[in-house]
Amino acid sequence: MKLLNVYPRWNIEPVKAQGCKIYDRDGVEYLDFYGGHAVISIGHSHPEYVRRIKQQIDKIGFYSNSVLISLQDEYAEKLGNVSAYPDYSLFMVNSGAEANENALKLAAFHNRRKKVVAFRKSFHGRTSATVRVTDISRYWSSIDGVSEVVFLSLGDTDSLKEELGQGDVSSVIIEGIQGVGGVIVPNIKFFQDLRIVCDQTDTVLILDEIQSGFGRSGRFFAHQYAGIRPDLITVAKGMGNGFPVSGVLVSPKFAAVMGQLGTTFGGNHLACMAGIAVLDVMEKENLVMNSDRVGRYLMDKLKKLPKVKEVRGLGLMIGIEFEEPIEPLRDKLLFEQKVFTGATGAHVFRLLPPLCLNKELADEFLDRFCRVLLR
Ligand SMILES: Cc1ncc(COP(=O)(O)O)c(C=O)c1O
Repeated sequence: MKLLNVYPRWNIEPVKAQGCKIYDRDGVEYLDFYGGHAVISIGHSHPEYVRRIKQQIDKIGFYSNSVLISLQDEYAEKLGNVSAYPDYSLFMVNSGAEANENALKLAAFHNRRKKVVAFRKSFHGRTSATVRVTDISRYWSSIDGVSEVVFLSLGDTDSLKEELGQGDVSSVIIEGIQGVGGVIVPNIKFFQDLRIVCDQTDTVLILDEIQSGFGRSGRFFAHQYAGIRPDLITVAKGMGNGFPVSGVLVSPKFAAVMGQLGTTFGGNHLACMAGIAVLDVMEKENLVMNSDRVGRYLMDKLKKLPKVKEVRGLGLMIGIEFEEPIEPLRDKLLFEQKVFTGATGAHVFRLLPPLCLNKELADEFLDRFCRVLLR
């Protein structure tokens, strides 16, 4: 059997990784400024993370949710405290799309409405409902769900009021920072307006923190810069530092209904242990603060580089926009300077390094980036 050829891939195979570095089959070292698409939060192969997962699998790796798994309660309690949502409940699943799919359903179970408002340039996943609230029509298929979706411009409070004022919108789904859309940070006032209009119209506010959460933005969640509390918060990526785990944080205003949601793999022993280890390391090593500090340092320096049109983002989620297409620059960075970076569209670099990045490695990246830019 061959693999279904649906992703473009580089001819590089990482076989080892440590902290912010990756090593290929020939032992060549790379700087990781992509974090496997924002997944690596505490750093590759963190010894504490590796130790805890190994210990857990020696005991028990999996059993179904038909029995008690006290690691789930331990994880939920820890996440509630670290994220400042101790009064919310946690529903655990396995991927970002699955978390958003469940959040959209929870909202609809709650108010029985059918319409969803999303924003232009959004990305929320590729499952049936999440792809329809994703503003990339080439991903849509003829069987995709969500009966009615309205895409509004990010920041357009008047249109938001008009749409929600009709009283038939089940939920509004918004990213903490738009990632795939180009690292676009919604402004604080817009988040606050959104909270107010959702409250006035009994519309559920879903904050997709799948890419921007877990310290990536320099706060635990990007929406916390605006001081709002969403009704549902979806998390994945940095939550497991590579172990597939995701979840929905559910406001106390939602009553739990027995049998309404379910999962086979969600919240398994290994996923919980990976999550606990991530939170423990984040706390011990002050990684949220580090993300803010090193992110500011990096953004200040990036703004001064030649040819750069705009630098956007928060913490260690950084977009660098160029007038020219970036593909040749990105290839040179990878193949000549040995640096992994992300991209969105043809003109924007997306930097998503592990949150343990230090200033020395940030400088090393800047040196290599300059070598490519100044050529
Ligand atoms: C903001 C956001 N939401 C949802 C998803 C979907 O996550 P997954 O690929 O784990 O299904 C992504 C993935 O990139 C994302 O960036």
